[in-house]
Amino acid sequence: MSRNVSEKAETPRRVLVGVSAGIAAYKTPELVRRLRERGCEVRVAMTRGAKEFITPLTLQAVSGHRVHETLLDVEAEAGMGHIELARWADDIVVAPATADLLARLAAGMADDLLTTAVLASRARLWLAPAMNHVMWDHPAVRQNIATLEQRGARTLGPGSGSQACGEEGYGRMLAPGEIADAVTAGSEALAGKRFVVTAGPTYEALDPVRFIGNRSSGRMGFAVAEALAEAGAEVTLIAGPVHLSARGGIERIDVRTAAEMRDAVMAQLPADAFVSVAAVADYRPASRSDEKIKRSGESMQLELVPNPDILREVAGLSPRPFVVGFAAETSDVGENARAKLEAKSLDLIAANRVGDDCGFDAGENALVVYSSDREWDLGSASKTALAEKLVSVIAEQMENA
Ligand code: PMT
Repeated sequence: MSRNVSEKAETPRRVLVGVSAGIAAYKTPELVRRLRERGCEVRVAMTRGAKEFITPLTLQAVSGHRVHETLLDVEAEAGMGHIELARWADDIVVAPATADLLARLAAGMADDLLTTAVLASRARLWLAPAMNHVMWDHPAVRQNIATLEQRGARTLGPGSGSQACGEEGYGRMLAPGEIADAVTAGSEALAGKRFVVTAGPTYEALDPVRFIGNRSSGRMGFAVAEALAEAGAEVTLIAGPVHLSARGGIERIDVRTAAEMRDAVMAQLPADAFVSVAAVADYRPASRSDEKIKRSGESMQLELVPNPDILREVAGLSPRPFVVGFAAETSDVGENARAKLEAKSLDLIAANRVGDDCGFDAGENALVVYSSDREWDLGSASKTALAEKLVSVIAEQMENA
């Protein structure tokens, strides 16, 4: 079992400001200053076209750091390369976001430093569109915005008023102070509450090289942990074997087996709430061979014994935390989820359909949440967006509990 508090815990919020080629780029230095005033550390990446509207030197002066401009600059990559920059950021704020940049982001292109950094980052993505009002109303732009929002991006504005082209309408970039306020606001709905969250699969060893596992990537659980932290909660994330890194301020404990996960969860209690997103193996091999099991040509049988049911055990404690389970179902999703809610005495259960192409190891999901007397259909969206909605339901229900 290994444990670490993310190194970002005590660091200021790290914001990468992306600048694309719009006249509103003249407001971006002001945005950088407003973000720094609110305690953020800011770096800037700009597209080639943006340099026609604002100079890198101005943005360097206000951010205090060299501006990131090109993907193929050997010297710049030797400093903070684009992948490092993508990992560094807690938030990416594209201001102004032109119609062209939105199209490239929606298409998942990585043809310059800014689009590549966005694609390579798990940071929250904020878009402050700025363009002519007719462009903003165009179905292509609307569709690109809808696609990006579906993936979890947050759109700020645009506002309406007189535009640089002399016309009136929606398309003005929001004022820098408004953008900075939105990015740094953060909800305090769960301030002072301590959450334990599990995520990812468990691996149950058969021998030194083989295990029984499942396809959980950990994305849903990490998104829930991050949304809770965003809402002001103190979060301990207990993760099975996954290839993800958690954002700043989340204590993370890595485990491998269901038994290790159970022990790690119990060691973290008491807490105000427990959210069990992990796909915990229900069974493990009765014994683990110390040597690699050799092929014999004969058929073989594996004896499996039940693993602890962590969720049931936590819900059975007295006093107990507020308990939220997940139900991964291939059929009769609502019915089976309600049965689990009742059987395990949970406060809430979030149900998702799982199969070859949904639920596990995907960026998107669909959730319906049940309590004993209510249900909330959160729809289908990115796991990040769903986690935020789930956290709102949890906060509301904890308040009423
Ligand atoms: O990780 P991703 O790729 O993003 O995929 C997300 C997910 C599909 C794994 C996630 O959304 C999800 O559904 N998680 C629950 C998976 C699961 O094990 O479901 P279940 O219906 O078998 O279990 C019901 C509940 O009991 C779950 O909260 C589970 O964490 C818990 N459980 C199960 C078995 C066990 N031995 N101990 C438990 O605590």
